[in-house]
Amino acid sequence: MEIRTDFLVIGSGIAGLTFALKVSEYGTVAIVTKKNKIESNTNYAQGGIASVLNADDTFGLHIKDTIKAGDGLCHEDIVKLVVENGPDRIKDLEQWGVKFTRNPVGSGSEYDLGKEGGHSNRRIVHASDFTGQSVEKALIDKIEENKNIKIYEDMIAIDLIIQSKINKWGRFGLDREDTCWGAYVLDIKGNSIYTFVSKVTILATGGAGKVYLITSNPDIATGDGIAMAYRAGARIANMEFIQFHPTCLYHPAAKSFLISEAIRGEGAILKLEDNTPFMKGYHPLGDLAPRDTVARAIDNELKKSGNDYVLLDITHREPDFIKGRFPNIYERCLSYGIDMTKVPIPVVPAAHYICGGVVTDRNGETSIKRLYACGEVSFTGLHGANRLASNSLLEALIFSHAVSMKSRKYIKEEHLAPPQVPQWDSGGTTDSDESVVVSQNWDEIRRLMWNYVGIVRSNKRLTRAKRRIELLQEEILEYYWNFTVTSDLIELRNIAVVAELIIDSALMREESRGLHFNKDYPEKDDINFKKDTIIDRKGKIK
Ligand code: FAD
Ligand code: SIN
Repeated sequence: MEIRTDFLVIGSGIAGLTFALKVSEYGTVAIVTKKNKIESNTNYAQGGIASVLNADDTFGLHIKDTIKAGDGLCHEDIVKLVVENGPDRIKDLEQWGVKFTRNPVGSGSEYDLGKEGGHSNRRIVHASDFTGQSVEKALIDKIEENKNIKIYEDMIAIDLIIQSKINKWGRFGLDREDTCWGAYVLDIKGNSIYTFVSKVTILATGGAGKVYLITSNPDIATGDGIAMAYRAGARIANMEFIQFHPTCLYHPAAKSFLISEAIRGEGAILKLEDNTPFMKGYHPLGDLAPRDTVARAIDNELKKSGNDYVLLDITHREPDFIKGRFPNIYERCLSYGIDMTKVPIPVVPAAHYICGGVVTDRNGETSIKRLYACGEVSFTGLHGANRLASNSLLEALIFSHAVSMKSRKYIKEEHLAPPQVPQWDSGGTTDSDESVVVSQNWDEIRRLMWNYVGIVRSNKRLTRAKRRIELLQEEILEYYWNFTVTSDLIELRNIAVVAELIIDSALMREESRGLHFNKDYPEKDDINFKKDTIIDRKGKIK
């Protein structure tokens, strides 16, 4: 079945939904999303959105903090663009109905602003600790009133439709001047493949936490957009910079539950089992040091002690304050028998955010024409080697706005309307009765990434990981081409591609910087490596 639309948006998190609302007056918008529309990393965001909203704060300070966290690799023009446009984009959200937590009138500051690691000021606007859920709900409610936008749930994009592939030049995606005309999408419940043909395609597929065994991310985060763009020939950058959040709840039943950094912003202290605080020994900012430092410090303490977790203690604050400021975290911990007003919370680091992604320019356009990327799937240059806390929802807002301004130019060009596109060719594939191959390889990739390509890396572990992933890729591809596609198989193929991109990029960076720490090169090497790691299907670009 073929569906023609002006804008095809892949993903229904903050990036995809914001973009859709902003362009709906210029053309028809189809949003495809692989589960329920609300299911996204956005929906789980707790801390909030960083922006300069307090009279004591300045753009200059936010810029400085972002660049400092980024450890030499932030693109300063992009940092400036993002920071300076933040307050306007926060207003957009409020106009769409998001209710941020405010201070009582006359208290000096309009918003109740949170503080997180690496920020020199209070600047995190939040909706108690349900920020992402409030944003998702408001955007979806607004979209549901809009006749020009249609959301297709339980539809997973498989691959992008690329001009060179249509032409059968045999150079799938390797032409620098290639053009994207939509995507092939599996209707998971109907078990059929749709051809979405579009004038503009936006990748808003979010992150890739599921590449790692332990992650704060929900199941949707399998790096599909990065893998699709890579297969299509787009440039991908800085995949070695995986951010591990220092504090995920350690409990056998609590799959991926984050304990927000905002708790440390309100005074929580990281402690060892015997109640000794340890962060001051690692960084002058102590518990509010940048995330890379805190995650590595915890990793080090766990390796030294052999314990499974460290403790996060906020019991010195008033119970009413804790319950009022962090109702989500309080209730969730209580459901596992942990009353955080009385006892410290057991926590561990977990893969949380990917700083690398599909390379875009300042308008969100990728190296393939008519293909844009925004949100966590993209690499804009904002985060450098380590993202400053709560800068990612902000980045998604700024770039979905930029893409909406730029991409609308393609809608009126009748002479460049999308071509005839071949329907998906499922070849001679038969239904698979070997689904154990999918689960086996899925577990193996995630475990090998956690053990060999984690918080602390070494040449030996990375080389081992490279050998394993090459074998796994071969096996997965053989399986992929021989059997009918399923959503599990699509995701497995994608996490394998993303894992290999992370390993290759980590091997290329022979230094330690930001989130990438290699024991064999423990120092930063500005002479050779103060640059992004850029890869496409032809190999390393620089
Ligand atoms: P997402 O919100 O992840 O949305 C991606 C969408 O794409 C989903 O709808 C998904 O189903 C869909 N999708 C993916 N692949 C496909 C496919 N193949 N076909 C169809 N659909 C697909 N950042 C902050 O700035 N502040 C915070 O406080 C904060 N807290 C966080 C807390 C948690 C627990 C987590 C996991 C992240 C947090 N982050 C935070 C990071 C931030 O939430 C994400 O970076 C951001 O929400 C990404 O938005 P997005 O729109 O790019 O992607
Ligand atoms: C958190 O609330 O700790 C997450 C913030 C972020 O990832 O930016």
